[in-house]
Amino acid sequence: MTNRPNIDRLLIPDTPFYYYDLNILRKTLNQLKNIQEKYGFIIHYAVKANANSRILRIIKNYGLGADCVSGNEITHTLSNGFKPENIVYAGVGKSDREIDIALDNNIAFFNCESLAEIEVINERASLKNQTARIALRINPEINANTHQYITTGVEENKFGINRTETVKVIRACKKMKNIKLQGLHVHIGSQIQDVDIFKSLCLRINELQEVFRKEGVPTNYINVGGGLGINYEHPEENSIPDFHSYFKIFNQFLDRTPNHRIHFELGRSVVGQCGCLVTRVLYVKEGLHTKFAIVDAGMTELIRPALYQASHKIINLTSNKSPEKYDVVGPICESSDYFGKNVLLKKVSRGDRLLIYSTGAYGEVMRSNYNLREHVKSHYSEDFPQIEK
Ligand code: LLP
Repeated sequence: MTNRPNIDRLLIPDTPFYYYDLNILRKTLNQLKNIQEKYGFIIHYAVKANANSRILRIIKNYGLGADCVSGNEITHTLSNGFKPENIVYAGVGKSDREIDIALDNNIAFFNCESLAEIEVINERASLKNQTARIALRINPEINANTHQYITTGVEENKFGINRTETVKVIRACKKMKNIKLQGLHVHIGSQIQDVDIFKSLCLRINELQEVFRKEGVPTNYINVGGGLGINYEHPEENSIPDFHSYFKIFNQFLDRTPNHRIHFELGRSVVGQCGCLVTRVLYVKEGLHTKFAIVDAGMTELIRPALYQASHKIINLTSNKSPEKYDVVGPICESSDYFGKNVLLKKVSRGDRLLIYSTGAYGEVMRSNYNLREHVKSHYSEDFPQIEK
């Protein structure tokens, strides 16, 4: 299938802007839902990927839960209709205020990342006469083979409880009165393209389940995190990630009984391809060896290339001339403010519109107002009913 949005919609005068194709979002959610039902898996949408209310409400209507990483994500998610019993909460640095928000709203689970944090949760819960349901986020030491900044499951990362500490932490938990340990959580990283890595993860989770079992703690809640990658090179042809192969691996390799509830926290794979960024060329500048297309969007609207050397497909929407190579750069006063280097684009002139694909995840939500830039608008396919095909 192809997911290039209708060109008329991308010619709105005010640039730059995010454009969301809600049909793609719905198609993605339909596929996800079908597979989820087949295997009986529970999906929490990782709100950090895109917290836009229009997007959140659609996701909620498909029955997904939410994975939050801050108190504000919890309140925002609740205000967009998610139910507390479908919310899980992870994060290495939960503040007392954030823990209170989670307790006051009676969310489903805290995914806990250290013994020190569990002690604070126990203390806050006891002040409120509550029992907090918790899971241990264990660092599984599985290398996700992705960019180092989005790798989370190896020893040098700050995330999760060191595997060798599992027994010690389980025993400490048993002594605390206001928490109830109900399972385990892992997350090894993001934009994982080789799904076989998840097989190693399943085998490691099985080992961890055995450790819990020996300590007499059932792991009815198993949360395997997120991380399924999307295709940034060919977003039009591959707008829906390969959920089949991904879930099949967990179904095949994860030890489970009918009592086990297997939770996933998917972000990028749900929303990545439904969003794009439209920008206008301000100037074309010739260097000695490099031709720059200077556009009106910058790292303030999409920081992924600057931060992770990420590559997003870019096309020129408004030129029919023969292609040339450009460095596509923004107006921000940083050399890292670029969208692509050596990109082949139909010859670019001032005023041309460029389309930057796959910005639905970690695009709008990571925007900033650095250089005192204004927040840009978002437009949605559904708001163009007159040209809906
Ligand atoms: N669960 C936990 C505990 C996480 O830390 C994350 C992402 C997810 C789930 C969702 O992962 P996903 O399915 O989206 O891969 N800003 C970076 C990505 C950071 C991911 C942070 N954690 C980027 O633009 O590539």
